[in-house]
Amino acid sequence: MTDARHPWWHGAVLYQLYVRSWRDADGDGYGDLRGIITRLDHLSWLGVDGIWLSPTMPSRDEDWGYDVSDYTGVHPELGTLEDLDTLIAEAAKRNLRVLLDLVPNHSSSAHPWFVDASSSRDSEHRDYYVWADPAPGGGPPNNWLDATGQSAWQWDDRTGQYYLHNFLESQPDLNWWLPAVHEEFRRILAFWFDRGVAGFRIDVAHGLYKDAELRDNPPLAEDNPLAGRFGLRPVYNANRPETHAVFRDWREIAGRYVPPRLLLGETWVAEFARLAQFYGDNDELQLAFNFPFVFAGFGAPQLSGVVAQTLASMPAGACPVWMASNHDVGRFPSRWGGDDGRKTRLGLLILATLPGTTVLYYGDEIGMSDVDVPADLQRDRMTRSGHSPRFNRDRARTPMQWDSSRSGGFTADGVTPWLPVGDGARCNVEDQCLDKASVLWLCRSLLALRHAELGGRVARYEQLPAADGQWAYRVGDLTVVASFSDQPAGIAAPIGEVLLGTSAADPPAGDSAVLRPWEGIVARTPAP
Ligand code: GLC
Repeated sequence: MTDARHPWWHGAVLYQLYVRSWRDADGDGYGDLRGIITRLDHLSWLGVDGIWLSPTMPSRDEDWGYDVSDYTGVHPELGTLEDLDTLIAEAAKRNLRVLLDLVPNHSSSAHPWFVDASSSRDSEHRDYYVWADPAPGGGPPNNWLDATGQSAWQWDDRTGQYYLHNFLESQPDLNWWLPAVHEEFRRILAFWFDRGVAGFRIDVAHGLYKDAELRDNPPLAEDNPLAGRFGLRPVYNANRPETHAVFRDWREIAGRYVPPRLLLGETWVAEFARLAQFYGDNDELQLAFNFPFVFAGFGAPQLSGVVAQTLASMPAGACPVWMASNHDVGRFPSRWGGDDGRKTRLGLLILATLPGTTVLYYGDEIGMSDVDVPADLQRDRMTRSGHSPRFNRDRARTPMQWDSSRSGGFTADGVTPWLPVGDGARCNVEDQCLDKASVLWLCRSLLALRHAELGGRVARYEQLPAADGQWAYRVGDLTVVASFSDQPAGIAAPIGEVLLGTSAADPPAGDSAVLRPWEGIVARTPAP
């Protein structure tokens, strides 16, 4: 369904595909667009509705595409614009929509805008970026820190000012106070929407505007991935209210297309009320990533609490988004489940049955774990020199494990992949395809169930009374009961016909059922 009240992403499943790691067709050790085309059938078999491609635009790869040097091109290592057109057309034949990653907070320092901006203070593009004089006593203009914990200000000798970079110094922040920057991005949006791109995942959507007075960030008592790091709360170098006007503008552009184009924000905020603001009055982003859900502990009170608070904060009709793994935060089977297969299965059940939009990360469907990438093979500059190995992002960017061969079926035999392949012998698509009790088949059944029962709408959710250590909810006509316990325990109330369970063994029957440890079941419960 694609009418305005029932857009295609309601009740849908998106699949985040880290292009460099999915499938290498040209044998250079990096995944590419042609590689994706060869494996689209896997995605339609699995039952996803759309794919979000990690950055595909030309880049110097300081941050693997998140440092864009041309917003309307394709990275030569990944393919050509024609390849992308073919991918969109081939995906459409399989009812799959294609979303790209858009990076409006910053460009690469190799972008012609920045090359010009840093050539002289009078250059045409000078004000496309955030420049400032030293503080009165010398040194950086204020206390803002970048994503590595260093000053977010880089001195530019040639023009005698600092420029701002919230991420790496090769990623200068754009100046959203300048109307010309808005004009550039309107043009970029239209360029891709006209080509049939179904929408964008918007990088650092909480960023964009910076405080006009460049005020110091306030201190933070305790670091935490949501509230702030390095002892500072990012109040002034991001999270400014002016950003909402940008999304209202883009939503208007997205709405000129049929079907409307989708704006999915990387909204890295801790408070549910602030998350809800990104939906505006149904006139900003249609979807906003929910990071408190990602960082909730894997327990009944933690997850049910985040879900309840999310739904209570959402404006009427808004569509929540659930994801548990991505290229920054790592893979949920490791974070949530300590690589215990029962917990991976339970995590998939929950992702597949919450109302709204679910986003899987490549490999979630086979329960891929984080990979311990040795220091000398790490490729992520942002976390390589880093603080804690736990935050090393390469761990979740390793090649897709298609089969049990040394290259994981990701690239040709004898080619060294850009990141090492994980334990493909233990976990791969080919073997799981042959085993109907596998995580892959469970995931496929769950997505089919989601389509049939929850597709095309944001289903009503209601938490139900549950035994200790269990989380029970009704969503649409389904009842889900999930055990987060090492002990078997009976369920609190009869739930009707059990459609599916997460254990490889037969699911317990609906009435008087006992759940095994870390087991979840879905039943169809007739309306009272
Ligand atoms: C986002 C991306 C991350 C990138 C950063 C800077 O958080 O997800 O991978 O490094 O933005 O673009």
